[in-house]
Amino acid sequence: MKLTVVGGGSTYTPELVDGFARLRDTLPLEELVLMDPARDRLELVGGLARRIFTRQDHTGRITTTDNLDEAVDGADAVLLQLRVGGQAARQQDETWPLECGCVGQETTGAGGLAKALRTVPVVLDIADRVRRTNPHAWIIDFTNPVGIVTRALLRAGHKAVGLCNVAIGLQRKFAALLSVAPSEIHLDHVGLNHLTWETAVRRGGPEGEDVLPKLLGEHGDRIASDLRLPRPLLDTLGVVPSYYLRYYYAHDEVVRELRTKPSRAAEVAGMERELLALYADPALDEKPELLAGRGGAFYSEAAVDLAAALLGGGGTPYQVVNTYNRGTLPFLPDDAVIEVQAAVGAKGAIPLPVHPVDPLYAGLMADVTAYEHLALEAALHGGRDRVFRALLSHPLIGQYAYAETLTDQLIAHNREHLAWA
Ligand code: G6P
Ligand code: MN
Repeated sequence: MKLTVVGGGSTYTPELVDGFARLRDTLPLEELVLMDPARDRLELVGGLARRIFTRQDHTGRITTTDNLDEAVDGADAVLLQLRVGGQAARQQDETWPLECGCVGQETTGAGGLAKALRTVPVVLDIADRVRRTNPHAWIIDFTNPVGIVTRALLRAGHKAVGLCNVAIGLQRKFAALLSVAPSEIHLDHVGLNHLTWETAVRRGGPEGEDVLPKLLGEHGDRIASDLRLPRPLLDTLGVVPSYYLRYYYAHDEVVRELRTKPSRAAEVAGMERELLALYADPALDEKPELLAGRGGAFYSEAAVDLAAALLGGGGTPYQVVNTYNRGTLPFLPDDAVIEVQAAVGAKGAIPLPVHPVDPLYAGLMADVTAYEHLALEAALHGGRDRVFRALLSHPLIGQYAYAETLTDQLIAHNREHLAWA
């Protein structure tokens, strides 16, 4: 089996490689190709990747290249984990929206739209080249904003599935709180990427007993404090929102906090410098502890599981993925991309049926779905008007005066990445 990682020079890659090494029975790789235009970084990351494989007695070959066509030739799956404009562009996304009193975040709100506009054309170009070289390959998209990027890929007819680590992270956390194995826990996970709620925590599988009331009863304080939301709010919701919902439920509080501290991009850029210095050490042959400070925990496990299931070999039968709604959530259009549990196999992902959704969350999902539709229109066709329409539709923006200012800011800060601007 051959798998290609586009953006393989990312400091995240050792996390992924460690997963490929540990979970080789689930996904037996003969070749792993790390592709990245940044050759220096790629060589550092590639060197460590090879040492990780050697240390763990993995016999698979790791190759590095900056040539996309070469990288995807013969690959069974292509994993996309790139960041157009790097941390510098992310830093902008996290900063200028704050001037209007709006959240500055890499996937939520105006910053997320900026990222979508920079990323969609690049990802579509890569996907077209993958299809031309290798029409059977699966595309696994971890590139943010995953909901909009996956929607772009599916609309263009690609064999694609979107991936995020939020669900697997919560599954691991709840399993630890309940002192059971993660595989014992099945989450009823519903929503859109980075806009999800855990509406049940089941023992054993999709039909298992719901232990969410017990979990909240025994560990509600801990869960609320990890989410940095008040415990009574959690009790009112009766479900566990992902930490991205804090940008909605505590928007103004978050804006105040963000204004007083360095951006996450700056923090991550510092970590990346340290990580690359560590990767350069030929004695290092495992993923360093520092990597655990990044948001992508358990990403490797989710990616291995998904690739294994798509390539027909194994993986867990139900996985949380991003795919077309097709009636799963009846209040959303069929072509919305939702993030839910799905049965994943060689033919792709088929969402499991979802219990009726409380209007308390269904309304927000519908709003953000409309925004994602308009965001994709703006990413595909460009133009100030389309950017404005997407921003005006976003539930965290909504007012025309903010949408006007944010539109101008977005275009001014991203001109070099926007072909039409
Ligand atoms: C989580 C999200 C990813 C996001 C990451 C950011 O893992 O699921 O979509 O990219 O956080 O982590 P960072 O360490 O870059 O802030
Ligand atoms: Mn994510």
